[in-house]
Amino acid sequence: MRLTVIGTGYLGATHAACMAELGHEVLGVDVDPDKVAALQAGRVPFHEPGLPELIARHTASGRLRFTTDYAEAGAFGDVHFVCVGTPQLKGSEGADLTYVDSAFAAVAEHAAPGALVVGKSTVPVGTAGRLAQAHGGVEVAWNPEFLREGFAVEDTLRPDRLVFGVRSERAETILREVYASVLAAGTPLVAADFPTAELVKTAANAFLATKISFINAMAELCEAAGGDVGVLAEAIGHDDRIGRKFLRAGVGFGGGCLPKDIRAFAHRADELGVSLAFLREVDAINMRRRDKVVELARELCGGSVLGARVAVLGAAFKPDSDDIRDSPALNVAARLRLDGADVTVYDPEAMDNARKAFPLLGYALSAEEALGGADLVLHLTEWPQFREIDPERARSLVSRPRIVDGRGVLDADRWTAAGWQFRALGRPA
Ligand code: UGA
Repeated sequence: MRLTVIGTGYLGATHAACMAELGHEVLGVDVDPDKVAALQAGRVPFHEPGLPELIARHTASGRLRFTTDYAEAGAFGDVHFVCVGTPQLKGSEGADLTYVDSAFAAVAEHAAPGALVVGKSTVPVGTAGRLAQAHGGVEVAWNPEFLREGFAVEDTLRPDRLVFGVRSERAETILREVYASVLAAGTPLVAADFPTAELVKTAANAFLATKISFINAMAELCEAAGGDVGVLAEAIGHDDRIGRKFLRAGVGFGGGCLPKDIRAFAHRADELGVSLAFLREVDAINMRRRDKVVELARELCGGSVLGARVAVLGAAFKPDSDDIRDSPALNVAARLRLDGADVTVYDPEAMDNARKAFPLLGYALSAEEALGGADLVLHLTEWPQFREIDPERARSLVSRPRIVDGRGVLDADRWTAAGWQFRALGRPA
């Protein structure tokens, strides 16, 4: 089939490459000529394992192309996927739909009559219906995306499920054809009306955020009562109904999705006269974990971090990503810097992005360099290589062996045995 993908950020670039991998002819469209030129040359402007190879392979074969020209996109095919961003509005919890609205308007203007325009962006419930009404010349469908950064290719080619929000059999048939090989591999398909399809996406992210904040609230309780949240999480996770995943207590969630999605979801619910106030508490618990790391840093430095050399391990909001949007690690680093600490950050992939966004922080070229002469070490993004740091060797580098494990994955016994003062969130000192 001949498909276009409008918007070539994380979601769009991955979707375009994966659709080419499934055998389709794909044209990616973006308003940013630099992005288009980079992708057309086979370069991916962000870190996503496996994606550069796919893009290079399919741009070389000609099955995947990129353009800035909507007229070309309209003429290219009869199925158009809209993958543009829906960031948080400035000064409001709500989602900014400017890009979605303009992408739909541009496609609708250039597409053949009756073409299928499929939204993949995360939107407030009601958006698909509104767009269908506004653009009667094309058919609208909604096909939310559940990919995780760091696993984007795998999650797109082998998703847990496909969700189609459709208003006609024709739309469902076309989408089934697009995803024929994914469905043939046994992937469950849920066909739904527009509001349900839109809600599945926001409900899934809200559930995941709630799970993380739940365990982080238990961490707060463990801190107050003297328990160990790691043991608690393992024990409740053995119950299949609860499950062990997404129960890692720590400095909390960040990124371009969970934080803004729960805010937009609560905001949209308010508009509909339904209270999702608990999601504001989920958000508040999440932000309190950052405060807690700042507090522990002060405590370990004897009441103030003023003048202390602090090594921050991690800048990305999670490992296998160079994404620093709403990164807990950088938020904590910036706050300590404001408190007068001399902060040095190291991250395996996110250094360029971090430098641009936080030019006042110090940066090291390796974890070892960051540790050199540190009075305090903060482990804030759980890259596998940080887990492999040898506490003995690390001790020989720092000025004072004090560490906060903000991700609950370092071996407390090993670090303590090597002479470190070791603190982790939700665990006994
Ligand atoms: C999230 C969802 O997991 C995807 O399903 C969804 O498609 C995506 O948002 C989106 O809406 O586009 P992502 O933001 O890539 O994906 O990252 P996650 O793997 O969900 O992690 C989110 C944050 O939660 C990270 O900061 C991570 O460190 C944190 N986390 C995760 C915890 O603090 N504890 C856990 O147990 C798990």
